[in-house]
Amino acid sequence: MDTKRVAVITGSASGIGKSTALKFAAEGDRVVVADFNEQAGQAVVDQIKANGGEAICVKTDVSKYEDVEALVDQAVKTYGRIDVMFNNAGIGRLTPVLDQKLEDYHAVINVNQHGVAHGIIAAGKKMREMGIHGVIINTASVFGFLASPGTFAYHASKGAVIMMTKSAALELSPHGIRVVAVAPGAVDTPIIQGYKDQGLVDAMKSKVMGNKLTMPEQIADTVYLLSTPNASAINGSVVMADEGYAS
Ligand code: NAI
Repeated sequence: MDTKRVAVITGSASGIGKSTALKFAAEGDRVVVADFNEQAGQAVVDQIKANGGEAICVKTDVSKYEDVEALVDQAVKTYGRIDVMFNNAGIGRLTPVLDQKLEDYHAVINVNQHGVAHGIIAAGKKMREMGIHGVIINTASVFGFLASPGTFAYHASKGAVIMMTKSAALELSPHGIRVVAVAPGAVDTPIIQGYKDQGLVDAMKSKVMGNKLTMPEQIADTVYLLSTPNASAINGSVVMADEGYAS
């Protein structure tokens, strides 16, 4: 019998999502790379295939429910099932609250919060319909717990991810579906490379044990662990993968 799992990973053209796609594929899972950036997403698929793995790319804007529903449908159409949904796509747009353009505020909420909600609903419905005891993993952040200046919309979105994780876990556990979140601290990816001019990266590094950035592969290892039966007791939880990020 074919026992390969199918993992759908949003925001997997870059950073944490890309490292997680490579990790799942290396462990033998079939991967659906979902990203706004189709060209970079296809490059991840090519890399997985070159390493002997299986993957497809589906261009997806997670802020649109119909895109996410079509993504889940495509995963099932191609590979017959969906075992893991990693709702990871996110954007920064860090600005002080009174200088925040409303369109940026809405963009952050639409991607980071609504994008995760869309993934929980679309994947949860499909897993329930197919009787699959799957796992939904959401990317939160230390910024879902800790306030720092200039991060208003991002804080709002990541706080929402934490409570959506707990709420969905309660309702989906009777169907054998776990819902968990991972909360990274300061990870060396393009999202924060864009902050270098603002001195924010140095400030974030100084809060991490060892004054360093976490590597995206470390978050991928955590996400993979959360997806396995070894994490069966972890449900509705936010797992800090932040190397001791201090307030
Ligand atoms: P990244 O910028 O390297 O990757 C984000 C990916 O999401 C990109 O490939 C981008 O094209 C995609 N994306 C953006 N909007 C999208 C949309 N509407 N639909 C589909 N895809 C979209 O950033 P990184 O660091 O890998 O971020 C991944 C997640 O980790 C985000 O949710 C972020 O908030 C979170 N995070 C990152 C931390 C860090 O220090 N890098 C710390 C804590 C959380």
